[in-house]
Amino acid sequence: MRVLVACEYSATVRDAFRARAFDAWSCDLLPTEGDPQWHIQGDVLPLLGEGWDLMVAHPPCTHLAVSGARWFKDKQREQADALEFVRTLLAAPIPHIALENPVSIISSHIRKPDQTYHPYHFGHGEVKRTCLWLKNLPRLKPTDVVEGREERVFRMPPGPDRWKERSRTLLGVAEAFASQWGDFIRERKAA
Ligand SMILES: C[S@@+](CC[C@H](N)C(=O)[O-])C[C@H]1O[C@@H](n2cnc3c(N)ncnc32)[C@H](O)[C@@H]1O
Repeated sequence: MRVLVACEYSATVRDAFRARAFDAWSCDLLPTEGDPQWHIQGDVLPLLGEGWDLMVAHPPCTHLAVSGARWFKDKQREQADALEFVRTLLAAPIPHIALENPVSIISSHIRKPDQTYHPYHFGHGEVKRTCLWLKNLPRLKPTDVVEGREERVFRMPPGPDRWKERSRTLLGVAEAFASQWGDFIRERKAA
């Protein structure tokens, strides 16, 4: 079964699906940190109609995250473009879709998320409320609720790669996506 992981440079989610024998591909404007063999570097939009069974999408949150609200009045064009990108991803002709973002204006401009979670639900002792918009997928179940409620972002040194470290999908979360949604779409296909 074919899985597209849209807007992923780290290969974390892609490789979690590949480890479960899915034909999973990542796509990002940036090169991948993983094996380039299963990465498409470029715009994801032209790929959406290419017969995927599932898409997991991580669109940029720079102009959408509520944490950046104080800058909103200066970036209305960027915000409109970012919302249009999200709308296009959510409307893709793919039977199962999950779209992830922090608490963002997607909720007020498009629709409320189907679920929110924190990394500490999936084995990482960290607080970061993250939202999921789901199409034909079950809500994700916590796999390993751990103690520890730090906000990792405050410990990160400033620098050009800070955004990357902040936005990288965590392994426990990627494993949960691949095992729970992977099983779900396989069962659906077999039924
Ligand atoms: C919030 S980051 C997601 C990172 C991801 N969680 C990971 O672990 O790699 C958003 C990513 O979207 C990518 N991106 C932005 N516009 C894109 C487009 N039109 N097509 C593909 N990727 C895009 C950016 O390059 C950036 O790496």
